[in-house]
Amino acid sequence: MSNSIIDDLLWRKACKKYDPTRKVSEEDLAVLFEAMRLSASSINSQPWKFIVLDSPEAKERMNKTFSRMHEYNKPHVLESSQFILFAYNPQYNRENYDKVVDQYIEDGRVKAEKRDDAYRVYPFVEFNTDETGSTVPWTRAQTYIALGNALHTLARLKIDSTPIEGIDSELVNEEFKKELDGYRCDVALAIGYHHEDDYNSMLPKSRLKMEDVLVRI
Ligand SMILES: Cc1cc2nc3c(=O)[nH]c(=O)nc-3n(C[C@H](O)[C@H](O)[C@H](O)COP(=O)(O)O)c2cc1C
Repeated sequence: MSNSIIDDLLWRKACKKYDPTRKVSEEDLAVLFEAMRLSASSINSQPWKFIVLDSPEAKERMNKTFSRMHEYNKPHVLESSQFILFAYNPQYNRENYDKVVDQYIEDGRVKAEKRDDAYRVYPFVEFNTDETGSTVPWTRAQTYIALGNALHTLARLKIDSTPIEGIDSELVNEEFKKELDGYRCDVALAIGYHHEDDYNSMLPKSRLKMEDVLVRI
């Protein structure tokens, strides 16, 4: 199949070794961040926060969180260009949605006098909130949409990346408590350019067959 979208997706491979000398340009970073911000989310809740670890100090703090587990992912922190924490709001509530509605009005999507109409979808938040006020399964899922969108955007920009669930969430959430401000991180993304020794970049792409994953009825 010859198609530029498919070509980009075949090109992207989870990077297993970064070239520490290469940095992503500010111009490309701006495109990536805007793509992440534009990601779709359930009822446009946008229950996420992206913490970009860019400075040597921030990366050093992340590096420390690998002291107990997932050592194999540790090199990515210092060798990648940026390491991004994808965090979610574990207790999404009406105040959070108020902010979305304020933005609808500012963006001209909803007229100020029709504000109440924008709350017609709010019961969906209640439907996804348990008796303790937790919205974790729902809000956490939204971060993966932003993550997928970031992966595709990076592929189009020809920037390598590694989605990383192998982090010590407990230590990460403790270390970045201030920046996370009540949000939680269970998944991260390293970005940059692969080292010439990156074994994964040399392996062929492999996926299950179409008939194993897709049913058309
Ligand atoms: C949600 C998620 C978490 C992942 N966690 C890790 C990880 O912790 N470390 C790692 O090296 N790769 C990780 N990967 C990369 C996958 O192993 C990789 O995407 C998969 O094997 C498919 O290969 P490809 O991305 O090269 O096509 C993760 C991928 C996803 C989507």
